[in-house]
Amino acid sequence: MVSVWEQLEKKMPAWLEESRKQARSGNVAAYIPELANASQEALGITIYNGRTDMITAGEHDMRFTLQSISKVFTLLLALMDQGEEAVFSKVGMEPTGDNFNSMLKLELVDPGIPFNPLINAGAITISSLIAGSTPAEKTSRILAFFRELTGDPALTLNEAVYRSETGTAHRNRSLAYFLKANRVLGDEIDVEEVLEVYFKHCSIEVSCSHLARMALVLAFDGTDPVTRRSLIPRRYVQIAKTFMLTCGMYNESGSFAIRAGLPAKSGVAGGILAIVPGQYGIGVIGPALNTKGNSTAGVHLLETLSTAFDWSIF
Ligand code: DON
Repeated sequence: MVSVWEQLEKKMPAWLEESRKQARSGNVAAYIPELANASQEALGITIYNGRTDMITAGEHDMRFTLQSISKVFTLLLALMDQGEEAVFSKVGMEPTGDNFNSMLKLELVDPGIPFNPLINAGAITISSLIAGSTPAEKTSRILAFFRELTGDPALTLNEAVYRSETGTAHRNRSLAYFLKANRVLGDEIDVEEVLEVYFKHCSIEVSCSHLARMALVLAFDGTDPVTRRSLIPRRYVQIAKTFMLTCGMYNESGSFAIRAGLPAKSGVAGGILAIVPGQYGIGVIGPALNTKGNSTAGVHLLETLSTAFDWSIF
């Protein structure tokens, strides 16, 4: 009998080319000027099972920044640093149905804490909860965590993307100052320092294989199946995977859960990290985004794979 892995290897190139056509209907993010340089038609994927070689196709070697994908891991680090109670006194657990950078709900509820840790307001709040006495110390702890998860000691920031974002982030600045006004960011917290940490973790540069490797650790409940090292407590991975399913694809999370049924997290550089629990870690890059801010070809490819192999967790 032909195994799923063999079928994946054989059929992936054709599926990838079919999904690539979707990129034409999307647009590369331009609100961070440096991201606008990415190739509209690029599409790449890496799938890893932790045992054999990775399956790769398309532009899987392309480098891109994590952007919002980093938010899953800063949440995990904040949970490990502060515990569940402290984290959820500052951010909620509900999807918003609004855009990722929306300010709307912050004023509609009391207390005005961000609805969840994966929208920008929530992730900025999470950045303030990372242990460390300076932005440099917090950033270096975050980077060390990503290096451990990916097994790549050379992982680092894309400085040009960081500078591009920090120089133009008027909306994120307004969100952060609003959080300060609401005392979600307390008196002791310097808004610009929190934003520095946030923009820096969004600017960490990866390829699909890094995403697949990180996803694999989540797929195996926090223990790296390759090194057998326990990196994250299972309970926190459970929390992160639940947020990925309910909020990871922003206000496309519902349709992605119905069509693919996999915990996943997207970023505006076009990356998507997806998990097939207990089996695979998946990394995808496709810079052209749909109107919800998710890689249009990447979403199509993941939905195709999940349907073909019945990967939905439901
Ligand atoms: O704060 C921002 O707008 C970006 N650094 C990250 C946003 C993002 O990736 C949203 N994802 N789809």
